[in-house]
Amino acid sequence: MLRFLTAGESHGPELVAIVEGVPAGFEIDPGQINEDLARRQKGYGRGGRMAIERDQVRIVSGLRFGRTLGSPVTLIVENKDFKSWQKRMSIDPRDRGEAVPVTRPRPGHADLAGVLKYNLEDIRDVLERASARETTARVAVGALAKQILAPFGVEVLGYVVSIGPIESRTPDDIGMAELRRLSEQSQVRVLDGEAERAIIAEIDACKKTGDTLGGVVEVVAHGLPVGLGSHVQWDRKLDGRLAGALLSLQAAKGVEVGVGFRAAALRGSALHDEIGYDQAARRFTRSSNNSGGSEGGMSTGEPLRVRVAFKPISTLMRPLRSVDIRTKAEATGAIERSDVCAIPAAAVIAETVVAFELARAFVEKFGGDSRSEIARNYQGYLEQVRNF
Ligand SMILES: Cc1cc2nc3c(=O)[nH]c(=O)nc-3n(C[C@H](O)[C@H](O)[C@H](O)COP(=O)(O)O)c2cc1C
Repeated sequence: MLRFLTAGESHGPELVAIVEGVPAGFEIDPGQINEDLARRQKGYGRGGRMAIERDQVRIVSGLRFGRTLGSPVTLIVENKDFKSWQKRMSIDPRDRGEAVPVTRPRPGHADLAGVLKYNLEDIRDVLERASARETTARVAVGALAKQILAPFGVEVLGYVVSIGPIESRTPDDIGMAELRRLSEQSQVRVLDGEAERAIIAEIDACKKTGDTLGGVVEVVAHGLPVGLGSHVQWDRKLDGRLAGALLSLQAAKGVEVGVGFRAAALRGSALHDEIGYDQAARRFTRSSNNSGGSEGGMSTGEPLRVRVAFKPISTLMRPLRSVDIRTKAEATGAIERSDVCAIPAAAVIAETVVAFELARAFVEKFGGDSRSEIARNYQGYLEQVRNF
């Protein structure tokens, strides 16, 4: 089973991920992981931190001569900013005096629930791990997962559909290559130039007033076979697993599969994707893809389409009302160096999270300890589906 854990504080020395269950024989290019790490760092509206970091992965286990060994893969990304935090983030108790405790919880962040739950006096002990800096490790893992999926023709891409109140138009039936080209060249990862200009103006306006923005991202995956995930048990359903993984992202507040919440307002006759059969290609076809490529907790073989809604960043430069946890006196939320809007980065993060869940379902379905064994099982399955 493919699984991973991440570790590391936002201003600690390193972020680490250990990925277990990667079959042997997959060619892994650290350069491609670095590309996704760089994509995660980009986007109009990020704060000062991203100017300091130059995220690069260091792979210290599980790989030899560019190929996976079947053993755990350890991915490490250095926090360059640690240099300025060595004393304040030290593991040595003698350095405690160097740190000024954070005592004013920010509404919307993990601060208050975290100190109460873990019985901590310094909010920094919570925020360092709650921070979305953690997603650097998840992006590295997902970028690795993409290299497990790629040999089987599966491609995954995330882009932005709205930021704050501004929606970007996505052309119908746009191909993966065009989707990638347009979103990659946009400063806010949208497909629509007019929306991009309006979004940048909105981010500038928020920056001026000390405010922040959220938004919605979409992830599409092409080339999936029918039947990843399963209807037979709740925790094997692909849509449920995707939603769980995506909602675990910092600031994520909602997930939609296919037309999502809009489905509730439609009649069944208008929603469901009618079934046909292409004799020449020997495959079942669909008249539409409102399901987003998922029925019964299984992939349908149509493009997978999921959306994630992210709330606005909770650190405001013009902070909201709060209470000092030490004195219980009225206060305002603490100010930490922060992004105004991180939705372009969230699109890359969601993309890599989806890639990991798909790779997990793929390895589960086509099981095996090596790429060649998986490839054999995969080909046999495709044959079975064609001959159905
Ligand atoms: C890419 C990304 C960057 C983020 N950057 C910040 C930030 O700079 N400042 C901040 O207060 N929150 C930021 N957040 C959101 C917080 O990490 C998140 O709101 C917090 O951990 C509480 O978790 P919750 O929102 O899931 O409840 C970011 C989230 C994402 C996805």
